[in-house]
Amino acid sequence: MRAEDTPLIRLEDYRPSDWLIDTVDLDISLAPQQTRVRALLGLRPNPAGQPGAPLILDGDELVLSAIKLDGAPLDASAFTAGPQSLTVHAPPRRGFTLTIETVLDPSANTKLMGLYRSSKVYCTQCEADGFRRITYFLDRPDVMSVYTVRLEAAKTEAPVLLSNGNRVATGEVPGSDRHFAVWHDPHPKPAYLFALVGGALDHVREGYVTADGQQVELAVYVEPGKAGRAGWALDSLVRCMRWDERVFGRNYDLDVFNVVAVSDFNMGAMENKGLNIFNDKYVLADPQTATDGDYASIEAIIAHEYFHNWTGNRITCRDWFQLCLKEGLTVFRDQEFSADERSRPVKRISDVRTLRATQFSEDAGPLAHPVRPRAYKEINNFYTPTVYEKGAEVIRMLKVLIGADAFKRGMDLYFERCDGTAATIEEFLACFAETSGKDLSHFARWYEQAGTPTIVASGRYDARAKSYTLDLAQTTPPTPGQTTKQPVVLPVALGLVGKGGDLPLTTGSSAYAGDGLIVLDQPSLSVVFSDVVEAPIPSLLRGFSAPVRLELDLSDADLLRLFSADSDSFNRWQALQSVATRALVAGGRKQIGLVEVQTRSAPIAAALEAFLSGQAVADPAFAAQVLRLPSGGDVAREIGQDVDPDAIHAAHRTLATELGFALTPQLLKLLTKFDASARYSPDAASAGRRALRNEALMLLAVADIQSGPALAEDQFDMANNLTDRLAALSAITLTTGEAREELIERFATLYADEPLVLDKWLMAQALIAEPGTLDRVKRLMQHKAFSLSNPNRVRALIGGFAANLTQFNRADGAGYAFVADMVIALDRTNPQVASRLLGSFKSWRMLEPIRKDLAQASLAMVARMPGLSRDVADIAERALA
Ligand code: TRP
Ligand code: ZN
Repeated sequence: MRAEDTPLIRLEDYRPSDWLIDTVDLDISLAPQQTRVRALLGLRPNPAGQPGAPLILDGDELVLSAIKLDGAPLDASAFTAGPQSLTVHAPPRRGFTLTIETVLDPSANTKLMGLYRSSKVYCTQCEADGFRRITYFLDRPDVMSVYTVRLEAAKTEAPVLLSNGNRVATGEVPGSDRHFAVWHDPHPKPAYLFALVGGALDHVREGYVTADGQQVELAVYVEPGKAGRAGWALDSLVRCMRWDERVFGRNYDLDVFNVVAVSDFNMGAMENKGLNIFNDKYVLADPQTATDGDYASIEAIIAHEYFHNWTGNRITCRDWFQLCLKEGLTVFRDQEFSADERSRPVKRISDVRTLRATQFSEDAGPLAHPVRPRAYKEINNFYTPTVYEKGAEVIRMLKVLIGADAFKRGMDLYFERCDGTAATIEEFLACFAETSGKDLSHFARWYEQAGTPTIVASGRYDARAKSYTLDLAQTTPPTPGQTTKQPVVLPVALGLVGKGGDLPLTTGSSAYAGDGLIVLDQPSLSVVFSDVVEAPIPSLLRGFSAPVRLELDLSDADLLRLFSADSDSFNRWQALQSVATRALVAGGRKQIGLVEVQTRSAPIAAALEAFLSGQAVADPAFAAQVLRLPSGGDVAREIGQDVDPDAIHAAHRTLATELGFALTPQLLKLLTKFDASARYSPDAASAGRRALRNEALMLLAVADIQSGPALAEDQFDMANNLTDRLAALSAITLTTGEAREELIERFATLYADEPLVLDKWLMAQALIAEPGTLDRVKRLMQHKAFSLSNPNRVRALIGGFAANLTQFNRADGAGYAFVADMVIALDRTNPQVASRLLGSFKSWRMLEPIRKDLAQASLAMVARMPGLSRDVADIAERALA
């Protein structure tokens, strides 16, 4: 497939389906290589469609074995069937049924879309357009049907048979070794939410009574022998269900809710109605095989998929352009859940780190697109940080702008008005316009315009008039296909920080919305605050109130004052990050030498020293975020052009080393205070203590204090959980020599039978910042822990390498060539995984000329390959455009 030959699908071309499918009766007989699917579709003309239109059903690599209309075989001249579609030329102009039989080979399905087998378990993945790989269908989200599904399989091979909704019958198939189960889902749903699972699985379960008194049976299914690792997922499920009842007033709506973990999965998880299917990495957890980070991700993703039951399933999307309607909103909901379960400021800091690392970099490169794209060639390439994370930021801003109360009423109205429909962003926003009484048409520009806006801010204090003037201006850079930009609506949460804390804010400006909020909705504006008794330091974008870059020229001294005195935790963290970023950017640009980077570390070290001897220990999770320097990628993005990754790395290492040296006594104290032999519990407070301890270990290891390797080895020996052992491994990869290789070996031996843990081991090695890493990665591809057919293994090793700033971007281009070769190899079996990997090239244009040419050449090499998937062809084309 050449990208140029693929049709472009446009939002403006949307029109309703000519036909509707009210009911779907599936009869699926599972067998490893020959699964038979009989679909009975109850069709009728759509009153909103073209009368007399032919019926054109979607297919993908399908083989038709039989077709009937109203129970009678259809004449060969009445239809045309191919792998990609089935057309009934002159269907009756009334309701009728169509019976379609197809035969599938789930074992040969390496794309992991449609019905496939993963470690002997049958499962499905239908979003976005995988259902058409199971049967011919109107595979679009605005066609919603009631499903009844009969599953049949060999009893020994698949004792567990699951589908959406409630189980209404089970039984044996007489005279055979087979059995069946019938599932009925009363809620009409689009085909992308269909799912089935069949296999030998263990489970854990729990009864749950909803706020409105409904009894629900919850269960988490895992590979045999792994039930001991399913408890945290189940616990998270119960907590997020209660939370959704309490915070959004949403109750569950079926008798059962099943979660299934599978080991081959293209993404994180999938919200199929009543039957969520997960990448096992986001379900399985125990202290020996999951880190604190894993526990937190499991909690968040369990919640995310569960929350889709209302935001995605009950209310779905009219078309795939509206993807953010369910994804942005559901990410917002899962972020809020995690914030309530853990520490709100720490959650915000880590979400903003992710946003900047993934979304800001996407927005700054050739793959930039609006939160609601206007056109696509391959929808699977639009499950992006922009749709998910920036989509969530837009909801967050909406809440800030209209206030929590109008937001809550708007959500209630949305749930009431749009329940059971396939909705649009316009319908969603209309609910909030109504409850807030505000015109949201300008705000809606957030959905249309790509690129990260920059706010340029400056302040002036007039001591005589006791006034403080704040000038704010916004610009949004050009992005592919969108050269001119309009101002957007920016909520700027702020405070003016004086010696004794926040000063009262008084102004006559209409841009000041009260409650410490300025709404910047024009190219620029000035706000004059009166009765300001002393020269303040402005604290802008508190809580990161808008997803923008901020240019505010504060001195390092002022930033360090904010670090110690700001009442907003996020901005305290941000202030120190800003000071560090400034030094790293100057070093990374080679505007200053490494000696000067050392010099600039002194005030940062002093501030950290005061911090660590003060409150740090009161909130270890926050302190851990403070100790963690901006990443090399953060610095590269800040530099933005002519990027030299080696110079950034040198500056980064220098700063970290200096801080490690300067803070040695405090850091060592943290190691003893938060002892690695403490009893393990996954709760947020305990995780925070480990996070702080392990940040301290990293700085000590970089600086090689008391022999960095020895500290890491000690921790490895003492640790009673994976979090601390993995931190020891990561710390030792910052050092060189024999001890590192020995610990790498010990880790592999210890976890030889734990693929998910070995993924972390693969990744830790793929991230080593030294020239030998490429060869190491190639060697590891031969390791028995690696497999090119498992997405988790690929993401860990190859994806890890592609995220290695200095080694992916090697000056000889060998990193690019390697990743490009892997993309081509993977594309033959799994285009989605291949195209995600190719996305690693998204920042190539910001590199210095030599690397830029080399990266471009590798991209062009991929683009030229004959027989590319649409997924990879589309990314290659857009990345090069
Ligand atoms: N809708 C899923 C979520 O956000 C993600 C998803 C989309 C997905 N397409 C997929 C998962 C394909 C696996 C494979 O929760
Ligand atoms: Zn989602």
